[in-house]
Amino acid sequence: MSVQSLERQKNIRIKSAGAKTYSSTLRLIVDNKELVDNVDYFSINNRRYLGNKYKLNQFIKSVIDKECGNFRTFADLFAGTGAVASIFQDKHLIVNDILYSNYVCHQTWFGTEDYSLSKVICYINKYNESSVSSDNYMSKNYADTYFSKKNCRKIGYIREDIEKQFKNGLLNQREKYILITSLLYAMDKIANTCGHYDAYRKNGDLDKKLELLVPQIEATNYQNEIYNEDINNLVKVISADVVYLDPPYNSRQYCDAYHLLENVACWKKPEVIGVAKKMDRASLKSEYCTINATEAFRDLISNIKAKYIVLSYNNMAEKGNDRSNAKLSDIDIMNILEAKGIVKIFSQDYKAFSTGKSNIEENAERLFVCKCF
Ligand SMILES: C[S@@+](CC[C@H](N)C(=O)[O-])C[C@H]1O[C@@H](n2cnc3c(N)ncnc32)[C@H](O)[C@@H]1O
Repeated sequence: MSVQSLERQKNIRIKSAGAKTYSSTLRLIVDNKELVDNVDYFSINNRRYLGNKYKLNQFIKSVIDKECGNFRTFADLFAGTGAVASIFQDKHLIVNDILYSNYVCHQTWFGTEDYSLSKVICYINKYNESSVSSDNYMSKNYADTYFSKKNCRKIGYIREDIEKQFKNGLLNQREKYILITSLLYAMDKIANTCGHYDAYRKNGDLDKKLELLVPQIEATNYQNEIYNEDINNLVKVISADVVYLDPPYNSRQYCDAYHLLENVACWKKPEVIGVAKKMDRASLKSEYCTINATEAFRDLISNIKAKYIVLSYNNMAEKGNDRSNAKLSDIDIMNILEAKGIVKIFSQDYKAFSTGKSNIEENAERLFVCKCF
């Protein structure tokens, strides 16, 4: 089934009978088993992301299961990829990140709006088959940097088309998020970088083919809530049984590392400057990467309403180079958490959070579990 035939089908039904018939059309499309069985899928962890907790998921889950017992609501509020939230999919999830590009992905993995998988697949097939010969925002700004000119043209065309289809009512909000997520993961796979966008490789391989895959989305809890807020503001208006915190550890700002994915997700087409071609990111800077981290953390913890607060923080305080040194000291963490409840610490050895050449031994990822008063 082609996108055109889906569009025709939808137009006819919408004209004749309105929104109610539209949803029955969607259900009809979902039933297209042949289409759904013959595509390649990707999962939430098929992306590179600094500090992602995918490899620690078992450790985190076993500690939380043991310490927090039965609970209903799990909040992952510095969620990044959403890897940790994904191990608690049976719970009512509250997921948040300051980056819109992460919010889009969270809407894909944890969102509550119904979507048509067959429709998404038709669009992905259409995008993979497309060949684009004219320039657009992406090729004008990024040709032969992080991606080849050819791939830039394709990325720009796909992102523009998703917006157009959404504005014309042919995609619902969730379907739009799903297609953008598929594009972001496809970009990440072929980007001419070492995993982040602070710089691109000189003489790197630009010839890789951009190929969108279909996200393997698990069943959703319809109570889930997804936010794109500064965490210190958000915690004033939400509550959860378990609040999991995984703040940035050092001075490396995530909006700098992922500016390109953020730019494509937001699609406001801003001016970009410098060799790395970054847009203005002033509103996305995190206090947790600055000397204000301790005060931000104190304010955060004092405002959280939860039975348990679980904090991931490694022991890099004095071990790395300046840039990779942790912004919160263990003494401050303990003082702040002990004012809120009873604290236990769990630890597991883990590769250091450093993208440079430094190879630091004996670093451990720690979990601070605070049972709130
Ligand atoms: C260490 S990463 C989290 C990694 C995540 N646990 C995972 O497994 O992918 C920290 C995240 O916090 C986000 N962040 C930083 N400051 C924030 C703030 N003030 N409010 C909300 N999110 C913030 C960053 O964008 C980044 O995605």
